[in-house]
Amino acid sequence: MIYAVANQKGGVGKTTTTVNIAACIAAAGHRVLLVDADAQGNATSGVLGGERPGPDARTTADVMLDGVPPASARMQTVVPRLDLIPGGGDLAAASVELVEREGREGLLRRALEPAAAEYRYIFIDCPPSLDLITVNALVAADRLVVPVQCEYYALEGLSRLMETVSEVRARLNPGLAISGLLMTMHDPRTRISGEVVNEVRTHFPGLVFDTIVPRNVRVTESPSFGEPVVRYDPQCAAAEAYQQASREVMARG
Ligand SMILES: Nc1ncnc2c1ncn2[C@@H]1O[C@H](COP(=O)(O)OP(=O)(O)O)[C@@H](O)[C@H]1O
Ligand SMILES: [Mg+2]
Repeated sequence: MIYAVANQKGGVGKTTTTVNIAACIAAAGHRVLLVDADAQGNATSGVLGGERPGPDARTTADVMLDGVPPASARMQTVVPRLDLIPGGGDLAAASVELVEREGREGLLRRALEPAAAEYRYIFIDCPPSLDLITVNALVAADRLVVPVQCEYYALEGLSRLMETVSEVRARLNPGLAISGLLMTMHDPRTRISGEVVNEVRTHFPGLVFDTIVPRNVRVTESPSFGEPVVRYDPQCAAAEAYQQASREVMARG
């Protein structure tokens, strides 16, 4: 099962959600592949325990555009059973190069085919845009997870994302389904957080995960140690929420 984690807004919790849910599912005993499709490379630095990919490391861009097999690009992470195809700077150039390619929307799907046989779960961390890289992720995916920050304007952009999903479904990937919307960075002390959850649930009935991820300072600390928060501080409230969210993701199938 291939999951794309997408929302064209930046800073809503895509990378945090991807690395933590992937880590929880790996901890539950499954082999999981994390595909970092963002030029920022935050998912990559978030699971390597302070290491960086070496100068010869292959990236998601090489896999998507240059026929590098996933098995040659993958790296081990600090999380047992969780492997990574690194992201990073060359994905910025890749999104430009993609425009010229034939079958430009389906390259990642084809490239990941050999990995799909090997990994029960594949998670793609998308960039903060609806560019061709995100479209490639949506075409490759069976399921979409949409992190939504509990903040003003949370709904902004979601209808555009849903339109893109409909277009991808109609033209390129009829198998794409929405796994769910995950409310992130919830702050129980503010009224707006609760209001946003209600608003999103009203707009997308049945699509919002029951689990709500609270805002928690441990989440902001964990990337500097190169670890998902579920490993850095498994007892903290956000880690417990991601554990629960990962069970919802697996249960929704
Ligand atoms: N539950 C949370 N509590 C506190 N900070 C969070 C939480 N989730 C994400 N963050 C922080 O918010 C910022 C954006 O999150 P990130 O996952 O990188 O978003 P995106 O990938 O959508 O840009 C990061 O600094 C991250 O550490
Ligand atoms: Mg990110």
